[in-house]
Amino acid sequence: MDEACADLIGGMIRIKPRAVLGLATGGTPLGVYRRLIDDCKSGLVSFRHATSFNLDEYVGLPEDHPESYHAYMRRNLFDHIDLPLSRAHLPNGNAADLEAECRRYDALIEEAGGIDLQLLGIGHNGHIGFNEPGRELSTGTHVVELAEATRQANARFFNSIDEVPKRAITMGVGTILKARTIALIAKGEDKADIVRRALEGPITTDCPASLLQTHPQLIVLLDRGAAAKLSRLSPDLSGGSTLPEERTV
Ligand code: GLP
Repeated sequence: MDEACADLIGGMIRIKPRAVLGLATGGTPLGVYRRLIDDCKSGLVSFRHATSFNLDEYVGLPEDHPESYHAYMRRNLFDHIDLPLSRAHLPNGNAADLEAECRRYDALIEEAGGIDLQLLGIGHNGHIGFNEPGRELSTGTHVVELAEATRQANARFFNSIDEVPKRAITMGVGTILKARTIALIAKGEDKADIVRRALEGPITTDCPASLLQTHPQLIVLLDRGAAAKLSRLSPDLSGGSTLPEERTV
């Protein structure tokens, strides 16, 4: 799955060296980033002319805090590839005027010509970026209160839950859905229920990822565990399957 996803991103860059990539954080993209680093070091792909926009960033966490998404991206990708840092964008969660920062970020994406390929993980509650389930969703980049479930899920990266920021800046679902291609990635059985709800359940703000069903160019890359509850696959995937262990959907 990591290889298929890295090939997708590498393929995009080869076809369009000035591609605009939407990037994600979390545990799921790590293997993809490791492969992109290898591909870049071996000369298979170059990000020299590319631009990137990350989905989100915590509010109030210093950029050099190891768990800020700025630090995550440097550690896991930017420090090891040839993408100029001046074109590797993340929202500034420490801006004095957060509302202005949100508008600046959307304007920057527009100026860059929009996102060609958006890499997207999914939270256990169906969040994409940090667009949390609720009665309504926002289209543009905005400040969000993080759901308790999200703070708990992300507490594994901090010393305690008290250290997990309560707010974040995230691209809105409108910003995400404007990407010309979206690559949704998920791994592990613990994501099987939410992957099924997102892809086969009703389109509802209670599961922000379900809005992806409306996107004309959605590519879904799942490992066997995350795909286990999809009805279209479960007959093949349940016991005695002859599918290879690592299956890409
Ligand atoms: C995080 C990020 C999301 C990410 C999700 C899943 O909080 N804001 O962009 O997709 O949660 O993370 P993981 O891949 O670690 O399961």
